[in-house]
Amino acid sequence: MAWPRVSSLKTLEQFQARLRELEIDLPVDEHVEAGTTSILSQPMNSVCGPIGNRWCILPMEGWDGTSDGRPSDLTRRRWRNFGLSGAKLIWGGEAVAVRQDGRANPNQLLINDQTVSQLSELREILEASHREFIGSTDDLVVGLQLTHSGRFARPSDKRRLEPMIAYRHPVLDAKFGITDDRAILSDDDLKRLIDDFIAAAGRSATAGYRWVDIKHCHGYLGHELLSGFDRPGQFGGCFENRTRFLRDVVAGIRAEVPGLEIGVRVSIFDFVPFQPGPTEDRIGVPSSQATYRHAFGGDGTGQGIDLEEPQKFLELLQSLAIDLVCSTCGSPYYNPHIQRPAMFPPSDGYQPPEDPLVGVHRQISATAELKRRVPGLIVVGTGYSYLQEWLPNVGQAVVRSGMVDSIGLGRMVLSYPEMPADVTAGRVLIRKKICRTFSDCTTAPRNGLVSGCYPLDPFYKALPEHDTLLTLKQR
Ligand SMILES: Cc1cc2nc3c(=O)[nH]c(=O)nc-3n(C[C@H](O)[C@H](O)[C@H](O)COP(=O)(O)O)c2cc1C
Ligand code: SF4
Repeated sequence: MAWPRVSSLKTLEQFQARLRELEIDLPVDEHVEAGTTSILSQPMNSVCGPIGNRWCILPMEGWDGTSDGRPSDLTRRRWRNFGLSGAKLIWGGEAVAVRQDGRANPNQLLINDQTVSQLSELREILEASHREFIGSTDDLVVGLQLTHSGRFARPSDKRRLEPMIAYRHPVLDAKFGITDDRAILSDDDLKRLIDDFIAAAGRSATAGYRWVDIKHCHGYLGHELLSGFDRPGQFGGCFENRTRFLRDVVAGIRAEVPGLEIGVRVSIFDFVPFQPGPTEDRIGVPSSQATYRHAFGGDGTGQGIDLEEPQKFLELLQSLAIDLVCSTCGSPYYNPHIQRPAMFPPSDGYQPPEDPLVGVHRQISATAELKRRVPGLIVVGTGYSYLQEWLPNVGQAVVRSGMVDSIGLGRMVLSYPEMPADVTAGRVLIRKKICRTFSDCTTAPRNGLVSGCYPLDPFYKALPEHDTLLTLKQR
């Protein structure tokens, strides 16, 4: 199934006509405002400090740290680009493992006593580029994303999973080769991990970060714990137990790292894992049609949303004096079409089973519904890159109508870091830099290469990995 490309929708009318065809009710502003009085330039006040506008850079790792967890020149280049984007909220930079066995790959950043000064330098690089290209950093709020990769940990070898899981899963265990209970983290293991998160938060404060994200998304450990309905013991079963990990980490940070603020990135809904269908076109199909009870924010069908628990989760954040939440969904490992809507799937994915605009709309409308139900939080939205040239029009419209507070940018910033600055300045968008969701930034690391925008960023085009990737894709 080929869906019309967004780049072929040359006018706003054509884009809106396509939304109507899909019966998608997505607000789109005809004119995007520029300047300091524009909607997307309005400041917000967080407990983390003043945030100068409504643009946020989402966390994106590059599989390009050193084997002992320090940033490389490629990492520093990416963070420099984050700084010059003009966005005033930096959501975590990228996933940083709180300990060695939690790394998603042997090149993921790691926070410990040996790496902390270089993580501080990374923040300084971002702030320096912001000062150089944008101006004051007084209203720039930079956090660090802390994680344990859980089921998807590959700490020592890119090709070998060393999973640490919350519970046995009927589909994912088979897909990722888990055959017995040895990978399950015990309650005592989780208590030790809570201490590691608290220690990592302390080091983040030492490195000058104003806040940390306790990552609860994309199938990694924090997120998996939220769906541990069948897990026995203190960290499974009822909502209170499934959120104990978060509450204990937060309590520890409050007690031991006063002054450091906290945000949470959470997958607000999840679907059953998808896989390539049996036909030659490899269109994604759900791995099971049976009742599915492992989706946090799911309605039990495997492909439906129930926001009752995500609402409770956001209310819990409020009760913990957390005001920053970033909404995302699903997982790039088992249902990438909902998490990262794309025209071209990553090499280990499947062809999109729906027009990716449907996926964009699903994330935006579920986020808006939560924002309506729990209005007091600063909510950052995700999934906008697929909108391509229409991203600013939709972004402005959803912020204007109060559906979200800040527009999070993921892939778009890899190909076109200056997009927020260009919108603010009223400059015409640079078409050749607009992310077309080729997914090379996901396909490359899935094949052991560093991530980056190989098709559009001249820097990555010139790397030898570019040719390796082309060869891999032709196989
Ligand atoms: C190369 C790459 C690396 C990513 N790394 C992270 C990460 O470290 N932490 C995280 O929470 N999300 C990560 N994501 C997900 C993005 O933050 C974002 O949710 C996703 O790309 C969808 O937003 P977009 O449509 O603007 O790209 C990554 C995405 C990409 C493409
Ligand atoms: S490789 Fe570049 S164009 Fe493709 S999805 Fe990633 S950022 Fe977008």
